[in-house]
Amino acid sequence: MFTQKLSAVLLLAGSALAYNGRVQEVLRRQPKVGNVTHSFDVARCPGYALHALSETHNGLTAKLNLAGAACNAFGTDVANLTIEVTYETTSRLHVHIYDTAKSQFTIPESVVSRPAAAKGNTAKKSDLVFNYDASPFAFWITRRSAPHAAPLFDTRISSLPPTPIAPVMAGDNSTALDGFPLVFENQYLQLASALPLGANIYGLGEVVASSGIRRDVGTNGGVGTIQNDWARDIADPIDENIYGVHPIYMEHRFNGSTNTSQSHGVFLLNPAGADILLLTPPSSNVSLIEYRLIGGTLDFYFLAGPTPQSVMRQYAQVVGTPTWQPVWAFGFQLCRWGYTSLAEVKGVVAKMRSANIPLEVMWNDIDLYHAFRDFTADPVSFAPEEMRQWIAELKANHQHYVPIVDAAIPKELNSTDFYAPYSKGTELDVFIKNPDGTEYVGQVWPGYTVFPDWFAPNTLGWWTDALRNWSALGVEFSGIWLDMNEASSFCDGSCGSGIDISNTSTPFILPGEPGNFVAGYPEGYNATISGPSGNITVNGTLTYGATAQAALAARGIGAGNQSDVDLNAPPYAIHNANGRLSLHTLATNATHTGGYAELDVHSLWGLMEAEATHKALQAVLPNTRPFIISRSAFASAGKWAGHWLGDNFSKWEYMYFSIQGVLQHQLFQIPFVGADTCGFNDNSDEELCGRWMQLAAFTPFYRNHNIKGAISQEPYVWDSVAAASRTAIAVRYALLPYWYSLFANASIDGTPPVRALFWEFPNEPELFSVDRQFMIGSDILVTPVLTPNVSSVDGIFPGRGKTIWRDWYTGAALNTTAGANTTLPAPLGHIPVHVRGGAALLLHSAPAYTIEETREGPFALLVSPAADGSAFGTSYLDDGVSNPPGPSATVTVHASKGRMKIESKGKFRVAQKLEVVTVLGVAKKPAKVEVGGKKVKGFTFTDAEEKLVISGLSVDLNKGTTISWK
Ligand code: NOJ
Repeated sequence: MFTQKLSAVLLLAGSALAYNGRVQEVLRRQPKVGNVTHSFDVARCPGYALHALSETHNGLTAKLNLAGAACNAFGTDVANLTIEVTYETTSRLHVHIYDTAKSQFTIPESVVSRPAAAKGNTAKKSDLVFNYDASPFAFWITRRSAPHAAPLFDTRISSLPPTPIAPVMAGDNSTALDGFPLVFENQYLQLASALPLGANIYGLGEVVASSGIRRDVGTNGGVGTIQNDWARDIADPIDENIYGVHPIYMEHRFNGSTNTSQSHGVFLLNPAGADILLLTPPSSNVSLIEYRLIGGTLDFYFLAGPTPQSVMRQYAQVVGTPTWQPVWAFGFQLCRWGYTSLAEVKGVVAKMRSANIPLEVMWNDIDLYHAFRDFTADPVSFAPEEMRQWIAELKANHQHYVPIVDAAIPKELNSTDFYAPYSKGTELDVFIKNPDGTEYVGQVWPGYTVFPDWFAPNTLGWWTDALRNWSALGVEFSGIWLDMNEASSFCDGSCGSGIDISNTSTPFILPGEPGNFVAGYPEGYNATISGPSGNITVNGTLTYGATAQAALAARGIGAGNQSDVDLNAPPYAIHNANGRLSLHTLATNATHTGGYAELDVHSLWGLMEAEATHKALQAVLPNTRPFIISRSAFASAGKWAGHWLGDNFSKWEYMYFSIQGVLQHQLFQIPFVGADTCGFNDNSDEELCGRWMQLAAFTPFYRNHNIKGAISQEPYVWDSVAAASRTAIAVRYALLPYWYSLFANASIDGTPPVRALFWEFPNEPELFSVDRQFMIGSDILVTPVLTPNVSSVDGIFPGRGKTIWRDWYTGAALNTTAGANTTLPAPLGHIPVHVRGGAALLLHSAPAYTIEETREGPFALLVSPAADGSAFGTSYLDDGVSNPPGPSATVTVHASKGRMKIESKGKFRVAQKLEVVTVLGVAKKPAKVEVGGKKVKGFTFTDAEEKLVISGLSVDLNKGTTISWK
């Protein structure tokens, strides 16, 4: 939520999470079970013994019986479990441990469909092998190809010393990791696995991690990470649970003696509230991952990799590949909270045009609404008929419109208040209920509200009608923005019954209103010295720095102090940074159709809303690809929607964090992702906004969004930002065929479009933590400036001197330092971008104001050969909007020394011609250039950059051609 102050959220882990170094005895939690208080040590839980094993055609199944007296640590021990081990493919092993009675919650197939297992027996061919000890039961996963190497996952760790957890936050009274047996109770499940000491772990989220993309596993008695899984509306605090939940991690193992590496993935399909800890016991030679869940079953998918990108593809086979984006989604998008009228919005669109900064999609926040009600437009400030006309104008200009949809549906205030989404929804029984069957009431912007129950049979139809009616009213959207869908609610759980619903005020002051003025600026901003542009004119001296970090607020009382076990206070208190699970969201005893308790399905709300909206848009805008950006997500949400990184801050630090956010979501299979460019909370400034507009032009979802009450930050506000934006957007639009092809690949097989450097260069350990640079596909490396007051930036160039990196803008090869940083010039307005040797990129040669106009222009080809003269690239082309995708063409370029071949396959007819071919790394001016066997004269050569440019061509890409030079 926007109200949080940065000072309150700056918890830089290291110190706060680290073990304090003292030898501590096992600390015990003090849960009360029933009304009896007793001291409890999880290490004394009896574990399980395996029996009744039977082999299945592709795995095994067995029973697990509680191996001693129940410990009832945080619930009731389940005596009888079943384990099913299925070799689903040669690279995927499914291990499901569940209560034999099947009374624990598991996600219905209708919400997250499970992948089919390959036909036939894959057990013998799988690279993953399931091994077990029968009693005490423990299992471990090895690679068939390396049976003696350390297992990938290994639960045989009950003999390890316990690791005390230093209080994570003031008031935290959960204490230690008390040994590591398998615990399976109705309200508490615990399983831990050994990891190599200091393992390279990526993923687990959603999070803004102080450790960067490589998660902190702690050292000698330290807990490095407590990843909490509980979807939460909060303004991007560091190292806490935020909007989405993704219980998937990738581990990357490097073998220094052979200089080889292998990656694997572990996905736990369980939406329960959870803590996932990464830690290293005292004096231990292993680190650990420990899962602590407050419900559900242990439903693990092990993914063999062995490369980072193959892990991601295998994960996509489990949760589904990302939805196809319409091509216009790659255009620049503009939003803010606080545009007070359509006239103002029109003015913004006009100013973008007159500043010649491409604008593809205009958005509206809740200012659009009448009385903050979904599916309305304010009759005065956003009059529906005027909206219709304006959106038609946008469309005529090849632009698009996306409005917000909030999760909560306001109640009608009285008998004369008619609000169809509510009355119709009530009639169709689509809202979440209290346990006694009455309407569940929460509170959001419009006052008291109800919430759609996505499990109810009529909800999809009702939602589709609401969206269709809204469009018919005049709000003719091209896509939908899903907000507040964790789901957020301002009461602590249920607002109760018998409340005065005529009170529609929010329980806090909105930003920009008296009492809550937006006063913050980026680090180093100094209005006195610098004037309204912030720090841009401060030369050389950093005016920001090491101020004390405020501690986090208490996370709430551990459930050990609860007097009873109930849905609202599970005995094990997960590290939800809000404390109580129902705070700022729905009460955990809110009830969904089918009897599901909110406690079990809480983190699925955003996913289910995204799916329903996707299906609704297919009905409302038939045959076109649904464009949806959702704040909350759970594993598999990428099938339906993209994501933005929520309420960040106009701070340099948050610009840096945006890179890890984008990379995380590539692994999570929601690759269409981006941050609020220039920052949401606080005021931005000229320098930060200019740098950020440039950086975000190289991330998939490119939207500038701002909080109500902050100073304006549209890219035309400052001349230098306008210029920087024009430059970066032109590069982005030139690269559109490349972006589009990467996303086609993602939607086909889950290959990540944006990549951490080591995903491409997995055997270079110096890259394993790099998250201040990133790659787009395999061929573009971006090295953004992430600090103020600098005119150069350091970046590492993978390949250890063997890979050629050429400057995007000049074509010149970079002189890199092998395996270490190279300093690059980066004056304001310049973002360093490099093209890998070996790349052949199809580009648009005339980036225009919109995506449509850009696509109507001709193509160019950029060839950046590797040291041996070879280059390769493919481009996927189609009409960019059809759903399902229609005919496509794949243009392939193969180059070797002095020649290249361009070929095309597929039924899509590419209308635009290839007009310019640029070949870099050409040592001397060629005497002869031939295209299609015919000599051409229209070429230039520049010595300094070794650049050959062949222009004036008219190559029909459907037919292809050959080009040679010597
Ligand atoms: C919270 C969202 O995260 C933010 O982007 C939006 O501007 C506000 N809600 C107001 O709708």
